[in-house]
Amino acid sequence: MASVPLELADRFGRVARDLRVSLTDRCNLRCTYCMPAAGLEWIPTEQSLDDAEVIRLVGIGVEKLGIRSVRFTGGEPLLRRSLEDIVAATTRLRTDEGRAPATAITTNALGLDKRAAGLAAAGLDRINVSLDSTDRAAFAELTRRDRLGDVLAGIDAALEAGLSPVKVNSVVMPGVNEDSACDLVRFCLDRGLQLRFIEQMPLGPRGEWTREGMVTARDLLDRLAREFTLRPAAEPRGSAPAALWDVTDASGRSGKVGIIASVTHPFCGACDRTRLTTDGAVRSCLFSAAAEEVSLRDMMRAGASDDELAEAWAAAMWNKKPGHGIDDVGFLQPERTMSEIGG
Ligand code: GTP
Ligand code: 5AD
Ligand code: SF4
Repeated sequence: MASVPLELADRFGRVARDLRVSLTDRCNLRCTYCMPAAGLEWIPTEQSLDDAEVIRLVGIGVEKLGIRSVRFTGGEPLLRRSLEDIVAATTRLRTDEGRAPATAITTNALGLDKRAAGLAAAGLDRINVSLDSTDRAAFAELTRRDRLGDVLAGIDAALEAGLSPVKVNSVVMPGVNEDSACDLVRFCLDRGLQLRFIEQMPLGPRGEWTREGMVTARDLLDRLAREFTLRPAAEPRGSAPAALWDVTDASGRSGKVGIIASVTHPFCGACDRTRLTTDGAVRSCLFSAAAEEVSLRDMMRAGASDDELAEAWAAAMWNKKPGHGIDDVGFLQPERTMSEIGG
C-alpha cells in the first residue's frame, strides 16, 4: 500500500506550502527596525548551512513535504555568492503538482544591478525589494547608509531582467519615512512596481518598537487618502500578508498598493509559511521562541536520512502556535532578530 505523503500541517488545520530560507544573517545596510548600528554577533560560517545542506533541505521540503514556493531571504541574500547556484538547484526540483517551485528572493537590491540577469537565467521568478523611501535623507537615516542610488539601479535591472512582478516593501517608521509615503506611491505607480507598506513588528533591536509609537495601517491609509482615491481591490487575498488597495491619483493614474498589517490585523489564521534559519533550524512562526526551533542541521550532521529529516520538520510544524500573540499580556519578543530568521 502506498504511504500517505507527509505534509507540513499543524493542529489548527493550516498546511505550509511556502518555504522561506534565510541564506545569511549578515547585511550591508543597518535598517533601524532590523539591526543595531554596530550590527550583530554574526553566526559563524561553520554553524551556517553550506550550499549542499541548503539544497538538500529545500529538496526535502519540495519533494517530500508539499512545498510549492521557495523564497530566499536574509540578512541580505545577495551577500551569498552562490545564490545563483542555489536558485538553479531549486528550480530543477519538481513539486507535488509537477512544476518547478515558484522561486523568489527578498533583497535590499544593493549589487542587484550586476546580478539580476544571472538570477533570471538561473530560473528566479520574481523579486521583492526593501525600499522604505525614495527621499535620499530619509533613506539614509533609516538604513544608516547613503545608498539609495544603488537600490534604484537594482530595481531597474530587475525590471529589465523580467523578474516581475517586482514588489517593493516599505516598513513605515514614525517620524522618518511617513512623510515620503505618498512620493513612494507615485514612484512605484510610475514604474509598475507593486508597493506594500508594512507595519513595524517587534523583531529588531530591543527597545526600538512600541505598540503606542508604531505607525498603524489605519494611520497610513488616512495619510494616503489625502492624496489618492483608495478602494479595496477585488482580488481574493488567500494566504498573502498584503491586503491590496486600488490607488488612483488626481491625474487618473492608478495601480495597486498593499498594506501588510501584521500587528493590527494579523493574518496568522491563513498562514502557509515554514522557515529555515541561517543555521538550519525550522521555525514554524516568525515569533517562535528559541526552544520551539528544531535544528535540522544538527540531525543532518549526525547522519540523519532524508525521511528522518522530513519527519522532524513535519513534527516541528505540527506544534506551530495559532498566532504571534503580540497583543497578549505575556508577549515576549523572540530572541532572534528578523535578519537571523529571514523576513
Ligand atoms: P509575496 O507577497 O508572495 O511576494 O511574499 P511576501 O509578502 O510574503 O514576502 P516578503 O518577504 O516580501 O515579506 C513582506 C513582509 O511581510 C515581511 O517583511 C514581513 O514584514 C511580512 N511577513 C512575511 N511573512 C510573514 C509572516 O509569516 N508573518 C508575519 N507576521 N509577517 C510576515
Ligand atoms: N518589522 C516589519 N518588517 C520588517 N522587515 C525587517 N524588519 C522588520 C520589522 N521589524 C522587513 C524588511 C524586508 C523584509 C525582509 O522584512 O522591510 O522587506
Ligand atoms: Fe504565520 Fe507566525 Fe507570521 Fe502569524 S506571525 S503569519 S503564524 S509566521
